[in-house]
Amino acid sequence: MLMQPDQTQDLPKVETGPPILALNRVTKTFPGVTALSEVSLELFPGKVTALVGENGAGKSTVVKILTGIYQPDGGEIEIDGTPCRFPTAQAAGDAGVTAIHQETVLFDELSVAENIFLGHAPRGRFGLIDTAEMIEKARAILVGIGAQIEPRTKLKDLGIANKHLVAIARALSIDARVVIMDEPTAALSQKEIEELYVLVEELKDQGKAILFISHKFDEIFRIADNYTVFRDGALVGTGSIADVSEAELVKMMVGRDVSQIFPNRAHNIGDEILVVEGYEHPTEFADIGFTLHRGEILGFYGLVGAGRSEFMQSIFGITRPSSGVLRIDGKQVDIRSPADAVANGIVYVPEDRGKQGAITALPIFQNVTLPSLGRTSRNGFLQLAEEFKLARDFTERLDLRAASLDTDVGNLSGGNQQKVVIAKWLATQPKVIILDEPTKGIDIGSKAAVHEFMAELAAQGLAVIMVSSEIPEIMGMSDRVIVMREGRIAAELSADTMTPETLVRHAAGI
Ligand SMILES: Nc1ncnc2c1ncn2[C@@H]1O[C@H](COP(=O)(O)OP(=O)(O)OP(=O)(O)O)[C@@H](O)[C@H]1O
Ligand SMILES: [Mg+2]
Repeated sequence: MLMQPDQTQDLPKVETGPPILALNRVTKTFPGVTALSEVSLELFPGKVTALVGENGAGKSTVVKILTGIYQPDGGEIEIDGTPCRFPTAQAAGDAGVTAIHQETVLFDELSVAENIFLGHAPRGRFGLIDTAEMIEKARAILVGIGAQIEPRTKLKDLGIANKHLVAIARALSIDARVVIMDEPTAALSQKEIEELYVLVEELKDQGKAILFISHKFDEIFRIADNYTVFRDGALVGTGSIADVSEAELVKMMVGRDVSQIFPNRAHNIGDEILVVEGYEHPTEFADIGFTLHRGEILGFYGLVGAGRSEFMQSIFGITRPSSGVLRIDGKQVDIRSPADAVANGIVYVPEDRGKQGAITALPIFQNVTLPSLGRTSRNGFLQLAEEFKLARDFTERLDLRAASLDTDVGNLSGGNQQKVVIAKWLATQPKVIILDEPTKGIDIGSKAAVHEFMAELAAQGLAVIMVSSEIPEIMGMSDRVIVMREGRIAAELSADTMTPETLVRHAAGI
């Protein structure tokens, strides 16, 4: 059912049985920001509650309050109807609450097993950590979630998806009654996502209460029983998923109707700007060649693991191809590092924006202008006003929500941090921009802003490569699509020949 903000006083109870965990009128403020204003939330045994809301709505703040990372300024947490406090993360764990956080806090230098059991490792005689037991327990949990990871591997030797599975294993290693998942599928492949859904079903069967945060409506409707919607730190609606439509949920989230319509594009395709020939890598990709024009948006579609990101990283100089030729503006260039790529007008916005993206201890404006300092400094002096202007221009167009441009990026919500990274690279005024999954983790309202901006930049002559695993985004934005499969180009489709079926068929090789 649909609730208006002024009706939140008497929210109907969605369940008859008592909740395991409840938040009552919890408030949390940060300097200049009210992250949560008197929000309530109930989590029931054997039920999945989806928490939805725009970037910055306060979802992760709730997670941090429920896991003892932040303390609320007002309101209370109840477990089985009894008020309780979580002064530390340990206290929350002891009370049976565990979470897979949006930005996973794991340690690269430790092994997978050590990461899973850090702080609660099985101990043997004399209180020493029983390493053999720990490795076996870790292995059992990993097998249970379908992860093929050796527990003795150092974390740093894993890719993002596997790191995320380790975070999930860590959350499950605490035998909790409440399991919180903050955008758990954002970093996973389709196969791993399916396994996660199976796991969620198992947790439900065990009577655990699950809080599930996601921007993907298909998955919300697939696995959630209940929903709660936040807007600007306030509760706007809660109820049973069976009683609500996607459009109603979106309207509660954004406060207006959002159409999933993509921008009307001019398709002013200009001269060749980038030519890639015979790109090869010993293990990741082979025989890749294509041409990109000014004003064009070229989509790269494929299943996760098709080698798209690995190939893009080689264009950007993060890795080097074993052979291949790259020409920009007709001139052959040898790109040995990201600095070479930027100097030649090519920038890459990575998929893993958390790690490779922003400097969290610096304010937004400095993050945005950092790679463009040549343009905002004069005689070696930074022009603060110009830095601000540049930053304001780009962040506004991407619908970035922050108290001010002085805010440290580390204090922004996950989705808003991603917008900073995109803004930072766009501000360099490149000739070619490669966007890897540009709207992953970005809420449905801001997605449209990102798409609009991409279309506008293309209309101004920028050449865009967009790696995306979302068919609507690929179809809605691309002039042309290259489909990759197992490190090779499987097909090239024009705007009029691409259909969801052809894309999937080429990507899967059927
Ligand atoms: N440590 C902090 N210091 C200052 N402000 C903060 C801090 N943590 C969160 N905020 C602010 O609180 C608000 C809510 O952020 P939160 O991370 O909860 O959003 P979210 O709903 O999880 O968004 P997203 O979908 O982007 O992950 C944002 O305005 C954010 O900038
Ligand atoms: Mg968040």
